[in-house]
Amino acid sequence: MRGLAFSVRASSVLASTLALLGACGTPAEKRDPPVAFAKLSPDRVKHGERLAIVLGCSGCHGKDLAGQDWSEDGYGRLWTANLTVAAAGYSDAQLESVIRSGKKPDGTPLWDMPSNLFTQLADADMAALIAYIRSRPAKGAAHPPPTFGPILKAEMAKGTYYSSAVKVEREGKAWPPDAGPQHRLARYMVRATCAECHEMNLRGGKSGPVKAERPDIRIAASYESGDFARLLRTGVPAGERKLGLMGEVARGRYSHFTDAEIAAIHAYLKAVAERDP
Ligand code: HEC
Ligand code: HEC
Repeated sequence: MRGLAFSVRASSVLASTLALLGACGTPAEKRDPPVAFAKLSPDRVKHGERLAIVLGCSGCHGKDLAGQDWSEDGYGRLWTANLTVAAAGYSDAQLESVIRSGKKPDGTPLWDMPSNLFTQLADADMAALIAYIRSRPAKGAAHPPPTFGPILKAEMAKGTYYSSAVKVEREGKAWPPDAGPQHRLARYMVRATCAECHEMNLRGGKSGPVKAERPDIRIAASYESGDFARLLRTGVPAGERKLGLMGEVARGRYSHFTDAEIAAIHAYLKAVAERDP
């Protein structure tokens, strides 16, 4: 017992020394972000379910997480994986590594799985996602591995189409613009979601797996806060125009953000537009 009490005390002294060192000695980017999505429920599986919706896992892998056929003429055969089957074959550590690294434990790279967005997920958020995946009943079989048609082969030869693992090597440590410590949580959320289409520098674009043209996200700075909340919850933008993919992603995913998360994201994007127009 004494040994235990001693080691607890010793380690808490050590921890506070480390915290002090962290506060003045380590550059902010090197530290794990002590930020994570709001836990609306103490139940880890419920928290994971909300994250799976907001982060798009359920959109791409299907509500039941059993995978969807994305095959398209000219592009080849591509299924989003059946996570209910895949997870059963992995330990938690392996599953986490596949999600963060964009490759399987045997080194096979994934394609069109946006692992580059998930490299910086907080441990608590990752654990909740894994708990949620494991809570889904096993359904069906694993899907066949991807094959590449002429369009993708040409893009691979040009270097404009590459695996998720390569994207993690290139972007796994990148962050959207820094707008100061008060915006860390929003920057964390934007990195894990909006950057998928508006790119890590938030400048938007027209190439890559998302074919629709995406604007520079700084356009959000011109929104009134009520209009921005309505855009994220309903997909209807200022001026009542009809949006395409953004409308879908807002209704399907961002309607699950809390009011506070939406306000934080808006404040961050306004700060980015000011600092880095
Ligand atoms: C834009 C669509 C998209 C999103 C969003 C997405 N995935 Fe995927 N994911 C894929 C595709 C496509 C594959 C299959 C890649 C392949 O077979 O090469 C895949 C593969 C995987 C695998 C590998 C399964 C195996 O057999 O080893 C895991 C695990 C996974 N995704 C988990 C997640 C989780 C968790 C999230 C959310 C945090 C997520 N995915 C979000 C498209 C997506
Ligand atoms: C799946 C891709 C995708 C994701 C993820 C995404 N966007 Fe978009 N966004 C688009 C596209 C595409 C457009 C252009 C309009 C359209 O075609 O729907 C757009 C347009 C916008 C606009 C301009 C709306 C207008 O007034 O015309 C804003 C603001 C915006 N996005 C903010 C965000 C924010 C904030 C996030 C993250 C919370 C986000 N987007 C995530 C694809 C995406």
